[in-house]
Amino acid sequence: MSALGLNLTARQRLVVALDVPTAKEALALADRLAGRVGMLKVGLELFCAEGPAFVKALQARVPVFLDLKLHDIPTTVRRALEALLTLDPRLINVHAQGGPAMLEAAVEAVQAHRRAGGQTELLAVTVLTSLDREALAALGHAGPPEELALAYAKLAHRAGCGGVVCSAWEASAIREACGEGFHRLTPGIRPAGAATQDQARVMTPAQALKQGSTWLVVGRPITHAADPAAAAEAIVAEMQLV
Ligand code: C5P
Repeated sequence: MSALGLNLTARQRLVVALDVPTAKEALALADRLAGRVGMLKVGLELFCAEGPAFVKALQARVPVFLDLKLHDIPTTVRRALEALLTLDPRLINVHAQGGPAMLEAAVEAVQAHRRAGGQTELLAVTVLTSLDREALAALGHAGPPEELALAYAKLAHRAGCGGVVCSAWEASAIREACGEGFHRLTPGIRPAGAATQDQARVMTPAQALKQGSTWLVVGRPITHAADPAAAAEAIVAEMQLV
């Protein structure tokens, strides 16, 4: 159900995580980044604080990735998506861990929205990078996180999702298993020489594109920069060299 061709520009592939607490700060950043980046990511913190009206205002400036990672029984996820899809975000996501029936319910909601002229594409979150091997063992999963991420990606692909959120380190294996048209959105991106902050397994923008990322999520290297627009331009320039 992927609507995108594969001819995205470097700029369209750059997604900036708006991890700021208020609409005022988010809209100020959006004004500085409009036209320079492909999408802005709104996560749970900002959505819970500012709500749907804020997302509408943001989307009037730059396409939005609504990163709410829904995970519930199929009917609840479908109904929540139906409400969120009235905002027509460019991307929205659910947890693959919700299982086949939940993923299929999510796909149905997004397909109905698109038949009605909507643009939204559905991604599934594979394994949170905060879950290491030990945490997964405590949850009853033997084996490394990469193995589980690949299994979840295959599940999301079979259910008809448009792609996954995954680590750039897993993007090439997922592309190989599920095909180029099944998108990979990858956080944990750091320009060469930038501070890694709390991210453990980072990749540079160029490396991530080479590994098969469709979209790169970059937060603090842009949002905490003295000049966010210049920081975004430098990353786009690095991506354009690939
Ligand atoms: O500032 P930074 O570039 O680390 O921000 C990355 C964004 O991607 C944050 O919003 C973070 O919550 C999100 N994310 C992540 N790793 C994941 C999933 C989401 O860093 N596995």
